[in-house]
Amino acid sequence: MKLSGKTAIITGAGSGMGRAIAKLFAKEGARIVAFDLNEDGIQAVVEEIKKGGGDVVGIAGNVTNQSDIDRLIDTTKDTFGSVDILVNNAGIMDNFMTVGEVTDELWDRVLAVNLTGPMKLARAAIQVMEKQDHGGVIINNASVGGLFGTRGGAAYVASKHALIGLTKNIAATHGTLGKIRANAIAPGGVNTNIGATITAPSELGMRAIQGAGEAPMGEPEQIASVALFLASDDSSFVNGDVLKADGGWTAR
Ligand SMILES: NC(=O)c1ccc[n+]([C@@H]2O[C@H](COP(=O)([O-])OP(=O)(O)OC[C@H]3O[C@@H](n4cnc5c(N)ncnc54)[C@H](O)[C@@H]3O)[C@@H](O)[C@H]2O)c1
Repeated sequence: MKLSGKTAIITGAGSGMGRAIAKLFAKEGARIVAFDLNEDGIQAVVEEIKKGGGDVVGIAGNVTNQSDIDRLIDTTKDTFGSVDILVNNAGIMDNFMTVGEVTDELWDRVLAVNLTGPMKLARAAIQVMEKQDHGGVIINNASVGGLFGTRGGAAYVASKHALIGLTKNIAATHGTLGKIRANAIAPGGVNTNIGATITAPSELGMRAIQGAGEAPMGEPEQIASVALFLASDDSSFVNGDVLKADGGWTAR
């Protein structure tokens, strides 16, 4: 097993890629702390992992709330004694709203969930990881929207580009001069519940993404195996990188 004895916090673990990552990491021997806003989603993934013989704790909370983050880190330390892996996976979309259309409320919400929350979680986790002999690993689930301009609206694309910048900064500081490995994943189209949040897309934003061609669709498990690579010692010399997993969408 690739993650024996490791403790992994996974945000957004109640659905989609987070759920698949939590299940795969548990299968590989990690003790899982599954965190999500959605209590039903958390309960379901906790039951599935327990059924498979895994060790798991579920915590309901919001990545934008500092006291929820403190509770998450404290519970992880108290329950399992370490914080070895943090997967910043929770994220939201923005109906492809362009800069000409985005409201302050939408902009602030997307940046809070997709960027500021992950930074606060990384900060809290790093403060524990740097004190551990073996350090720790951070994986930020970004998007091809973090590498190109058209795979989301202005807030989504800006938040994911910034999340990749944050990943590189962690690697360049706490990575090269400390004990942390931090990498990002840039998935393309993946079959999850996030599509249901695209309720009233911007016409201009949609025209822009259609210009990028049809996205091949992947399954959450195909991203979970990328996360496993980045979490395990198989990637021990990979730090500050962005691993695209998009079925070739951005290759053409
Ligand atoms: N599905 C795709 O095509 C795709 C492509 C590229 C990147 N991504 C990114 O992958 C990540 C996972 O998305 P998914 O597709 O699995 O979506 P999903 O909607 O299926 O799951 C996201 C989970 O995050 C949780 N969440 C949302 N806001 C939260 C908050 N403030 N605090 C705690 N939990 C919160 C939701 O409750 C949900 O369970 C996101 O960061 C998303 O931007 C998705």
